[in-house]
Amino acid sequence: MHHFSYKNGELYAEAVAVKDIVDKFGTPVFIYSYNTLQRHFKAYKDAFSGFPHLICYAIKANSNIALLKLFAKHGSGADVVSGGELFRAIKAGIPCRKVVYAGVGKTEEEIRYALKNKILMFNVESENELQEIDRIAGKMKVRAPIALRINPDIDTMTHPYISTGLRKHKFGIPIENAIAYYKLARAMKNVEIVGIHKHIGSQLTKVLPFIDALKRILILMDDLAKQSIKLEYLDIGGGLGITYYDETPPNPSQLAKNILPLLKDRKLTLILEPGRSIVGNAGILVSKVLYVKKGEDKDFVVVDAGMNDLIRPSIYNAYHYVQPVVKNRKEKMFVDIVGPICESGDFLAKDREIQSIKPNEYLAVMSAGAYGFSMSSNYNSRTRAAEVMVKEKHFSVIRKRETYSDLLRGESIPKFI
Ligand code: LLP
Repeated sequence: MHHFSYKNGELYAEAVAVKDIVDKFGTPVFIYSYNTLQRHFKAYKDAFSGFPHLICYAIKANSNIALLKLFAKHGSGADVVSGGELFRAIKAGIPCRKVVYAGVGKTEEEIRYALKNKILMFNVESENELQEIDRIAGKMKVRAPIALRINPDIDTMTHPYISTGLRKHKFGIPIENAIAYYKLARAMKNVEIVGIHKHIGSQLTKVLPFIDALKRILILMDDLAKQSIKLEYLDIGGGLGITYYDETPPNPSQLAKNILPLLKDRKLTLILEPGRSIVGNAGILVSKVLYVKKGEDKDFVVVDAGMNDLIRPSIYNAYHYVQPVVKNRKEKMFVDIVGPICESGDFLAKDREIQSIKPNEYLAVMSAGAYGFSMSSNYNSRTRAAEVMVKEKHFSVIRKRETYSDLLRGESIPKFI
């Protein structure tokens, strides 16, 4: 569900014509719907309201501070994977006692920063990391709250690059080593065991992998309890998919209905780390058609957004629905929609039938709110796009389009040149 729809053939974001935003801020531009974001966040809150829980929005999906502030206002915590994301969370007013920190490569500097700010817990991914956290916490004379990220060895049937829960992946601690690692942690002076974590992958469209993984974790928790290792937090990660094409993923309420019965009579706080399912369909990327180029077998629509703006099609062969900002023609074209970057892999959509389109008209790439801007780059020295948020008839830029001088920020020419 989202608030992007046509009125008299014109695409609107809530009550604002997309064309008006484009006229004011240019293209490429990411447009987010406030009410969609809010609705998706609340869907999680409502779904899990019957059980003690904490929603830690996965900042990596979209880290713009305006979105973080909105979620913070609704009581969100944060799932961070870097010092930079923790910095953003703090700046957005997300309390650090609601921040969980995952990631296989936390540096000493990042661990210190997180300890200094008293985050809720580190989701620890290896023995080495556990030792490092113990050592640093010791030096700082604090105790580090930790959960172990357990890899439950579950096949999620999602794209291999965004699947994380199999033994062969770099993430987490193999489930069969979990008890040994918890015992190791218990013996450490400067860490305090508070929880357990798993995240098995992203864009999951079935509920079964969530259930299978959770069941394995619950058995493990019972085994740990027998060793007197009691856990306060059960963090089940994120990963719920969205509809890009014709997927029918479970919604948060269906997820809750499947998960909560498994937790009955357990005294713990459930942590969720949703990213995509909150922001994915709440954002679009609007781009201007530069040229329509006749090809041998098909035509190419060259637009002013490229893989530097939205890399998902190029690296995951991801499907994003593309539609015209103004629907005004019946004729169709069969095309590839490509960007201006000097790479054959620079495309937004392949082999699509779209309304016949001309230069200077606009196309909207749908479902671009998650892993869109946050994965964008300056490749080909392209300035990064503007981001705009719409709330009913109001809209406001939440990140300015970069300028050429932004491109050189931090660069310098040494004397020996
Ligand atoms: N928690 C952890 C530990 C994660 O690694 C992730 C995502 C999430 C939560 C949030 O997952 P979500 O609810 O958004 O599925 N760039 C890829 C997705 C990478 C996901 C990485 N981890 C894409 O564009 O599809």
